[in-house]
Amino acid sequence: MKSPLANGAEWIGLESVDSTQTIAAEALREGRPVGVVFALDQTRGRGRFGRVWHSAPGDSLTFSMAFAEYADHPRPYLVGMAVALAAAGVLHAHVQWPNDLVMSGKKVGGILTELLPDAQGRLVPVVGLGVNLNQSAFPEEIAHRATSRFIESGLRSDALTVAEKVVARLANLPEPNDWSVLSPIWSIFDATPGKSYLLPTGEIGSALGVGTDGQLIVSVAGETRSVMAAEAFFGKV
Ligand code: BTN
Repeated sequence: MKSPLANGAEWIGLESVDSTQTIAAEALREGRPVGVVFALDQTRGRGRFGRVWHSAPGDSLTFSMAFAEYADHPRPYLVGMAVALAAAGVLHAHVQWPNDLVMSGKKVGGILTELLPDAQGRLVPVVGLGVNLNQSAFPEEIAHRATSRFIESGLRSDALTVAEKVVARLANLPEPNDWSVLSPIWSIFDATPGKSYLLPTGEIGSALGVGTDGQLIVSVAGETRSVMAAEAFFGKV
């Protein structure tokens, strides 16, 4: 797939920001050629479903990739899923629909894909990746569902090096135009089947897998459904 750094788009490296997504949004709106926004620290990181994304300087990877080449993409969620595959390859993690990164069944990283307007009003997929790299423990209330690369592998990681590797690895992926091209790679890393999801209806389903458009196929009370939005449970349900 195409790099966020294609056509001279820049890598912006910063120390502390509110959110790398916000910095990318400003640059796009102002017509600046932003490709990657990397930060050593985030003070107001954003997760999916309007949640706060916590990170710790020195322990976490926080960066965003603006894919101008995929502006007005008909299936922008595939760009986020492709980034999850690149990150899973670098970290030796698994992927869980739609684009969580997991190790030993716990969440090690997450992806937020937002469609942000550029100076021409085109909607650019901006994919933010947050990974727990070097944390040696998590607060008791989340320790059953969160982990870090260090806890799982004993490896200490340099956030900038990991970010560079993820961006470089995107070149190994096919164009994310259709789920059928990502699906064979997804299946190598997939930890989705059997996981529990909260559906927008409030029901809880058990994942059967990913469907032909990249949607989640879940079983709810014996009935099979196909959904585009659902939230994974980590740890015990
Ligand atoms: C999730 O909820 O699983 C997605 C988390 C995404 C966090 C990353 S960290 C870099 C980028 N900047 C943000 O504010 N959020 C994303």
